[in-house]
Amino acid sequence: MFSEQTTVGINGTIAIPGDKSISHRSIIIPSISNGICEVSNILKSEDVLHTMNALKEMGVEIKEENKKIIIIGKGLESLKKPNKELYLGNSGTSARLLTGLLASQNFDSTLTGDKSLSSRPMKRITNPLTEMGAVIKTQDGKLPLNIKGSFLKNCKLEISIPSAQIKSGLILAALNTKGTSHIKENNITRNHTELMLKTFGADIETKKFGSSSEIIVNGKNNLIPKDIDVPSDLSSSAFFIVAALINKNSNITLQNININPTRSGLLIALEKMGANIKIYNQKTKAGEIVADINVKSSKLNGCELDKEIAKLMIDEFPILSVAASQASSPSFFRGLDELRVKESDRLELINHNLNKCGCYSEIQNNGLFINPDKNTEILDNEIRTDFDHRIAMSFAVLGSKIGKLNINEADSINTSFPTFKNEFNKAGGNLS
Ligand code: S3P
Repeated sequence: MFSEQTTVGINGTIAIPGDKSISHRSIIIPSISNGICEVSNILKSEDVLHTMNALKEMGVEIKEENKKIIIIGKGLESLKKPNKELYLGNSGTSARLLTGLLASQNFDSTLTGDKSLSSRPMKRITNPLTEMGAVIKTQDGKLPLNIKGSFLKNCKLEISIPSAQIKSGLILAALNTKGTSHIKENNITRNHTELMLKTFGADIETKKFGSSSEIIVNGKNNLIPKDIDVPSDLSSSAFFIVAALINKNSNITLQNININPTRSGLLIALEKMGANIKIYNQKTKAGEIVADINVKSSKLNGCELDKEIAKLMIDEFPILSVAASQASSPSFFRGLDELRVKESDRLELINHNLNKCGCYSEIQNNGLFINPDKNTEILDNEIRTDFDHRIAMSFAVLGSKIGKLNINEADSINTSFPTFKNEFNKAGGNLS
């Protein structure tokens, strides 16, 4: 029912910045290694800079030379008590990973964040750490966290919430704890921490059992410094992939994109929807799989996704929902509970904004039903983002198809993709 917006399409080779998850880990892990690491293609977004500033505040020497970040690690026990509270802005990854890192230090620390981060659940990380002997005070389960540095004991823990942030926080705690820790995740989630630690010579092993896995960490072993070349981010690529798919006359190329199978559920979902996506030049770099991707305009059909795949593409539902709203048949995505505790209540905001754009969607039992057969003209072009970067970018993409949308608080995009607007408009988008 929409008037087609762009006829020139979304085109070109898009510069996608470094992967956000790997960038956080590319600061934390070198900082506790024993030597000098050079990191190239790191994402310089607000979230990652918060992790970097926190480590600098704890005495780690981090500098920039010839576009590379140089980190001088002095070992697992080298961090110093910060002189002030560690402010982590909007970054859930910084908060959960650093809580794990700080719980075993010989000093106390306090973590704070912005309004959104201060409303997100932290007991999911502080509770299992407490079982290891950590002493952490929360404000009703939320930030600020007061962490009392403590000797931790090795653990046998089972994580039932699908979360790589929880798993990674626990692994970081186990690294600085004597003996062997067993961390079982009932749902396989992104494994960047495990892969990177392996390349740093950590004594870490993953055993897979169907859809769950057990990570076994032997603590108190030195980490050997390694240079890191951060692959480009599939989650950031997703906005361009969908923009190219839903707009006519589009053809884009994305290079050196991380397609780690614990992250690439979106590609499976889009393939089911009939997307014209080619993946080539596949290679492995430091344990991570990277490839180039070509995407052309496609007639998409709807699809049904089960909760199992949600863990492999948890950040991509806002943009996948935009794709589904422009397909030729209905979609249903199940098991989206975790979307409610992201940078915003994403499930609510996707539904709310799709409806404003005249796209039919309904939340059913923490799943999302989208039926493009019932789409109408845009009802209201003001997009509410609650400062959530992924909601902002997803609706900017929808605006390139159905007509310009006003994305409120679009500055939030800087948390993960500071060059988005430039790249998007250069490729044919219309974000002001
Ligand atoms: C991340 C894990 C995911 C994801 C976030 C980054 C990470 O969160 O949503 O953007 O870097 O570990 P959860 O693991 O809590 O689902």
